[in-house]
Amino acid sequence: MQANHLTFVYLQFASKVSGNFNANKTMSLVNAFEWRYATKKYDPSRQLSEEQVDDLLRTVQLAPSSYGLQPYQFITVTDPAKLEQISRAAFGQPQITTASRVLVVAVETNISEATVKAYIDKAAIVRETDRQNLEAREQFVNSKLSGLSPAQKIDWAEKQAFLAVGILVSAAAEAGIDASPMEGFDRRQLDQILDLPTKNLQSTLLFALGYRSADDEFARIPKVRKTKAELFTTV
Ligand SMILES: Cc1cc2nc3c(=O)[nH]c(=O)nc-3n(C[C@H](O)[C@H](O)[C@H](O)COP(=O)(O)O)c2cc1C
Repeated sequence: MQANHLTFVYLQFASKVSGNFNANKTMSLVNAFEWRYATKKYDPSRQLSEEQVDDLLRTVQLAPSSYGLQPYQFITVTDPAKLEQISRAAFGQPQITTASRVLVVAVETNISEATVKAYIDKAAIVRETDRQNLEAREQFVNSKLSGLSPAQKIDWAEKQAFLAVGILVSAAAEAGIDASPMEGFDRRQLDQILDLPTKNLQSTLLFALGYRSADDEFARIPKVRKTKAELFTTV
């Protein structure tokens, strides 16, 4: 009797908590997006912990991607000499030299049947299924990707990478961590600095993380956005 009562109270509590939790989640993300902005200048005295960075990167790892192939890498750059070079390739934008973390988002340039094979091999192990059960899937994905030119494959990979970047922007904002996606850089220079072509990679975005500087004026300028009527239509 006592146990039943406690179970009932617990379930009531749990459903309240999960109900509130979901409601708060939606609200907190909207609030987080009101708070966030593309941070231009970071406070170099405030560094992120390894745990904070790990949690953020876990959301990137869990991001959805077409066919699950995740045709990208997020490269953390810590070498001060390389950061100095990257800063120059990014036209001296202050995010690079002031942020706690600088990531380079790069896409794979050698997407092929081998890419799909590696995914299917892994899926068979993770899902504890005979590889043969996944062969129809493998053929389907290969048939889709083989219709793309090398340039189209890179475009496709960049779309997948940008979805993961969007998730990283959201995760950072929700955690109260500042972030800056940046495409203002010379891609060829950045690729050379990190020797990306030899790794079959091509840079697509720079991404800075940390805490905003108190004197970053961009924190105070109002957001410019399309109106709802301009942005959302119904047919
Ligand atoms: C893909 C992408 C690339 C961007 N590149 C740069 C950049 O190189 N330098 C910069 O200062 N801001 C960059 N931004 C920031 C945008 O200018 C900014 O997000 C936009 O003006 C909206 O302002 P808010 O993010 O502060 O609300 C970039 C944003 C995105 C999404």
